[in-house]
Amino acid sequence: MSLNIDSVLNETRTFPPSPEFSAKSALGSWEEYRALHERSVEDPEGFWAEQAAHLAWFRTWDRVRNWDAPPFAKWFEGGKINASFNCLDRHLPARGNKPALVWEGEPGDKRALTYRELHAEVCRFANVLKGRGVRAGDTVAIYMPLVPELAIAVLACARIGAIHSVIFGGFSAPALVDRINDAASTVVITADGGWRRGQVVELKKIVDEALKGTPTVHTCIVLERTGKPVPMEAGRDARWDDLMREAKPDCPAAELDSEHPLFILYTSGSTGKPKGILHATAGYLLGAQLTSKYVFDLREDDVYWCTADIGWVTGHSYVVYGPLANGATVVMYEGAPNHPDTDRFWDIVERYRVTVFYTAPTAIRAFMKWGDEAVKKHDLSSLRLLGSVGEPINPEAWMWYHQVIGGGRCPIVDTWWQTETGSIAISPLPGLTPTRPGSATFPFFGIDAAVVNEKGEELPNGQGGFLVIRQPWPSMLRTLWGDDERFKEVYWKRFEDKGYYLAGDGAVRDKEGYFWILGRIDDVLNVSGHRLSTMEVESALVAHPAVVEAAVVGFAHEIKGEGVAAFVTAGAGHAQVPALAEALKKHVRDTIGAIAAPDQIHFTDALPKTRSGKIMRRLLRDVANGVESKGDMTTLEDLNVLAKLRAQDEE
Ligand code: WT7
Repeated sequence: MSLNIDSVLNETRTFPPSPEFSAKSALGSWEEYRALHERSVEDPEGFWAEQAAHLAWFRTWDRVRNWDAPPFAKWFEGGKINASFNCLDRHLPARGNKPALVWEGEPGDKRALTYRELHAEVCRFANVLKGRGVRAGDTVAIYMPLVPELAIAVLACARIGAIHSVIFGGFSAPALVDRINDAASTVVITADGGWRRGQVVELKKIVDEALKGTPTVHTCIVLERTGKPVPMEAGRDARWDDLMREAKPDCPAAELDSEHPLFILYTSGSTGKPKGILHATAGYLLGAQLTSKYVFDLREDDVYWCTADIGWVTGHSYVVYGPLANGATVVMYEGAPNHPDTDRFWDIVERYRVTVFYTAPTAIRAFMKWGDEAVKKHDLSSLRLLGSVGEPINPEAWMWYHQVIGGGRCPIVDTWWQTETGSIAISPLPGLTPTRPGSATFPFFGIDAAVVNEKGEELPNGQGGFLVIRQPWPSMLRTLWGDDERFKEVYWKRFEDKGYYLAGDGAVRDKEGYFWILGRIDDVLNVSGHRLSTMEVESALVAHPAVVEAAVVGFAHEIKGEGVAAFVTAGAGHAQVPALAEALKKHVRDTIGAIAAPDQIHFTDALPKTRSGKIMRRLLRDVANGVESKGDMTTLEDLNVLAKLRAQDEE
């Protein structure tokens, strides 16, 4: 694994924390942080017991950590807790009238809910779910635009112990079918549609299509968002507003076991089938709460905005659970960053006086491309802290974010984590960590991260290898829904004897021990900060009648980080013409979603394969990236295939 190591190790610019920030740090000095981190990995039970004491419990735990049967961890066994209670009820005495959610729709409609109002809505909707037969342990699919009701639905599930499975509103009907069936969800919550770039995304229509293939679903709850009429199926479909009107307002939070499943969230793996990442209540909540507090340095008067959709884990942890568990004011914006214009985000920052802003490198690169003018029109002086997540942030984008958005005064927290880790695992702490553009710096408390070789031996600084976490942490995934074997196989098998968690990313530490993430080590792409399995896109392509064989690889994309390149062999009688390329792009968009639609389609009569028939993706990657292929090609069965692909590319 040697990708990019030299280039990242050349970055030596260091940005010390500003004295103002440091003076206010909740954690004292850099040395104190290091000492506390050391303690957190040497005495995890002591450390986490102290931290967990800051949550509200119905019953205290008997045992902090159970790692008796790795890789199946349990945390805070014997404890009784509720995530919705921690995000809502416990704030009512002191923060009842404080805004919890401040929302803006894409068309410009606005809504704010105080903690008291959000609590009331959540209780009512929890009763709606109960009324529809939802019980603790049932799984509920949520497929909605980014509206307050999405957060309400999530917290209502948590309140009664139903397991939510949020499915990003950009996914298509077949993707929805897979996820609903895998989780055997009984209820689907959706909306007539949502707004995206001035257009209505017809969510209910997609759900109707999906529900033809989901035998477990008996109820579909439909929020009116756009007002566009949608067909309602008698017996199955009910309107959100009608149900809410009839529902009782009180709903005590269920006293759930610490390990009670809180949610499932599907993410791509290197095989076609998405993985249902399962998180447990207490540990997840603690991770989300503590990281929000320290990484985002949340203060009582902050106006905090994480631009992620709740359909991704970032929205779960840093729009809903983390900030609300800390009693913060959370900004939510439904739509696209360039609607009606490319300054929409900055307009929002200015109008709501946003202080802490968390977004993805793919967005930052888009803003860079759209130009500084759109930013300069607005007063961004309220900002005091910036965050980045989803993929490695290139130093140019980091510097632009720092200077143009942050006015040179805001620390940047480049946060590395995964759907599986549940909460931020490697990140600077503002005011404490001297940052380096492009490095996620150092592990968070309780995270025993290391860079190791194939044998699991820690590598010296400067040598790239596998990123692992050497001991369990509270917000780690518990398993893959319904598939313990795959859970073991994907994350634990490689370093089974040591009990290390394999993150699936390559990493290297520089001379001073800073962590630099080098990207995924398997056949998984990172498109706009979201994992996409090459297999899943390939299966979609070969399902098209014109396609015989397909191979998908990533290529460097200016905005998306990685773009999707598809190499396709068409069947006899299908002309390899641009119209077919367009049809295939549309086909992938329809079967998986827009995020997976190929940016490039290369037609080829054959794919480069080894003698044993394995597709040589490395070579395809070179073609897609327009670079010369180096390295061993002796295993290539037919050298002509590659030559032809390259020639065609130059046409
Ligand atoms: C993968 C996880 C976690 C929220 C969003 C994505 C990449 C994430 C960073 C970062 C370098 C990053 C990794 C990771 N990644 N954050 N700050 N620097 N790479 O969640 O879909 O579970 O993807 O995203 O490759 O493994 P996800």
